[in-house]
Amino acid sequence: EAAGTEATGGTLVMATNAEFPPYEYREGDNVVGIDVEIGEAIAKSMGMELKVEDMAFDSIIVAVDAGKADVGLAGLTVTEDRLMNVNFSDPYTTATQVVIVKDDSPITSPNDLEGKKIGVQLGTTGDQYAGDIKDATVERYNKGFEAVQAMTQGKIDAVIIDREPAKVFVEQNEGIKMLDEAYTEEEYAIAIKKDNEELLKKVNTALAELKSSGELQKILDKYIKA
Ligand code: ARG
Repeated sequence: EAAGTEATGGTLVMATNAEFPPYEYREGDNVVGIDVEIGEAIAKSMGMELKVEDMAFDSIIVAVDAGKADVGLAGLTVTEDRLMNVNFSDPYTTATQVVIVKDDSPITSPNDLEGKKIGVQLGTTGDQYAGDIKDATVERYNKGFEAVQAMTQGKIDAVIIDREPAKVFVEQNEGIKMLDEAYTEEEYAIAIKKDNEELLKKVNTALAELKSSGELQKILDKYIKA
């Protein structure tokens, strides 16, 4: 199916990785969450229909770059590296990376991660942060919750992941907690093919409308409890 970028009609293909609650996750056969609702609202305001393509996280930027998807909408943090391959819309929210450990872990701050075994989702900014920690061994998993599982099984010492999915995983698993101290702030935005300035403009216009109407905040509040 051709990637639609027409002003009206057509399909807006959204590449995502539905392993990232509450931004995108599976509910039965459906992919739901904040990013899906944002994608739907943006498609609607462009007179298009949204089609969600669930794929491996590290395939998303590649799919957008190759024109196989119109937008990458997956809690994607704007990074210098990614900006070499795709454009990003204006940010739609901010986030931080946090550390998850077992309740009885000797690790009490990110400074204690030196020399430890750290689990991350492959290709994420958490992966990047972990790689910068002195003498740490980075274990990369296809899904964030697989890293959490490995930790509850004692295979690794800690997980670095975005705060909101971390909250969900900590809620769903006994005996683990999130450290108070977080990494610096990141911004989530929508990835768009580099040479498609037209789509970038349209997405930013739609996003601005969602912000000023309060719709974006409503979507965030629906999934994120204070
Ligand atoms: N914010 C992080 C990043 O951009 C993690 C995003 C993971 N998203 C996902 N749908 N699995 O690298």
